[in-house]
Amino acid sequence: MCGIVGYAGVNRAVPYLLDGLEKLEYRGYDSAGIAVVENGALRITKTRGRISFLASLVASEHQSPATVGIGHTRWATHGKPSDANAHPHQSGSGRFCVVHNGIIENYLQLKAALQADGVVFRSETDTEVIAHLLDKNWDGDFVSTVRKATGQLEGAYAICVLCSDFPDRIVCTRWGSPLVLGTCDAGTFIGSDVTAILQHTSDVYYLDGHETALVTKDGAVFYDKTGAAIEKQPTRIAWNLAAAQKGGYEHFMLKEIMEQPQAFADTVSPRISADKRIVFEDFHLTDDDIRALRRVAIVACGSAYHAGAVGKYVMEKLARLPVEIDIASEFRYRDPVLDAQTLVIVISQSGETADTLAALRLANGRGCKTLCIVNVVSSSIANEGSSVIYTHAGPEIAVATTKAYCAQVAVLYLIAGYLAEKRGLLSEEARRAYVAELEALPAKISETLSQCDAQIQELSQMFIPLEHAYFIGRNLDYACAMEASLKLKEISYIHSEAYAAGELKHGTISLIEQGTLVVALAACDDVFSKTMSNIKEVKARGARVLAVSTAGHTDAMGEVDFRLLIPATDPLFAVTLEVLPMQLLSYYTARSRGCDIDKPRNLAKSVTVE
Ligand code: F6R
Repeated sequence: MCGIVGYAGVNRAVPYLLDGLEKLEYRGYDSAGIAVVENGALRITKTRGRISFLASLVASEHQSPATVGIGHTRWATHGKPSDANAHPHQSGSGRFCVVHNGIIENYLQLKAALQADGVVFRSETDTEVIAHLLDKNWDGDFVSTVRKATGQLEGAYAICVLCSDFPDRIVCTRWGSPLVLGTCDAGTFIGSDVTAILQHTSDVYYLDGHETALVTKDGAVFYDKTGAAIEKQPTRIAWNLAAAQKGGYEHFMLKEIMEQPQAFADTVSPRISADKRIVFEDFHLTDDDIRALRRVAIVACGSAYHAGAVGKYVMEKLARLPVEIDIASEFRYRDPVLDAQTLVIVISQSGETADTLAALRLANGRGCKTLCIVNVVSSSIANEGSSVIYTHAGPEIAVATTKAYCAQVAVLYLIAGYLAEKRGLLSEEARRAYVAELEALPAKISETLSQCDAQIQELSQMFIPLEHAYFIGRNLDYACAMEASLKLKEISYIHSEAYAAGELKHGTISLIEQGTLVVALAACDDVFSKTMSNIKEVKARGARVLAVSTAGHTDAMGEVDFRLLIPATDPLFAVTLEVLPMQLLSYYTARSRGCDIDKPRNLAKSVTVE
């Protein structure tokens, strides 16, 4: 949520700032701003709206020669999107300005105290208190002032600060929200994630919590939480720049859908040994720990939760462990029953989702074994789990996840197989067959994508005018229905609901009327006939049904209006294929409806607020 950039270098700062903000725009896009120091004073340009609007504003009024500056793209939390609420925020004296990512939880108390001292606030944001605290704590030393001011904050923050007294430098610090720095010949770059920096350097410094950096064109000096200068080692980022660019596709989402065979293969293959065993370097549970496990709790938000729903079915089936899944925002506030024999698996693409991070901290605090499935290296969740298994999906830029979801599911299959083997529940033969199927999936994912693309484009036509749609399925098909429904609603703004097919008749079936569109996911062999019965029920009430299944069921699908077939696979893995046409369906529907596919309204890529 919100993107931050900073640059201190030898070239003009403004083009770098705008370029970095464009790369981070997926993190928030309701307002944006930049600031530089010019002739001893701060010069701030900020506005409601997209980066492109800020860029046109800057082009007409802001040809600044300054070589140091900061910028921000916002996803509103405190205060509506407006020019006044856009960052950077300036202190009353005019000496400081700040850009901020995160939430200051005690801002109301701080604001009241500052107002009592006569400070006048110009925005509704929590961030503005930081600017005024900088004034209040000003001691002539830039770094020490930032440290004193942030010492009063509760909550999460990543901030970059400019000071008019020091036009050649930026001070930045963080707690709870990420901040990354990189240095090259052109100077030093700061970003709230690596995509803002990647084109300049692949060697980056992750700022740890409460660390501070003094940034100039020559590099960064780092200070630990006590204020002592420290040496930090850079981390080499494996992601390449091409992965964070559209590469000829109209939208990142389509590109990322098409990258799923690679994402699945890159995630699975390093975890399969030469003798076809599932191996994890990064799983810190001993064989005894695994045998002692009594249950698994999977916790995540949104699509990551839907990946968890796939994990639940597969793990229960193979490893015969009871698996609960929870939405992280519910889990953290419901006093869950947890103990040392519970494995808590948290799943997060960004590794920064506030509720998921809080759930992880809760589980860590209760003495559970915690395992994090994360895409972004060195993110907060990755840093705090007892084990972390990275999905190798590469950078995901579209707000609606596709390839990261696919890679999360891949890891869950690996974990299920691993636990089953360690618990003595997978024979040598069964394990080999399971691994062979996992290794065959990338080719089947490619085949599905190319096979169904044209048909889906055609089918999407009937979704374009819809106001409502329903997705039904049982077991793994239900897990897919939840993801399919979320994808459609979040990018096309068509209201849709996912229902366990057998549950419809307990109330929701009253919404089915002549012409209602129902998508029935029916790739699970063992419940296929049951789902067909539910299809008959909705058809009897006038629904039009699009069913997704495998070729083996073609004849039995006689009742449906439209059918979409996926390649044959082991039924346990069919969900990884049937979700693909659903992603494409959402994409083509949203495109035809003229929606902003990569940046749907009201959303942001990484949800760092509760
Ligand atoms: C939907 C989507 C979201 C995320 C959710 C969790 O397409 O992308 O529902 O899955 O916000 O995000 P992470 O995985 O970053 O924790």
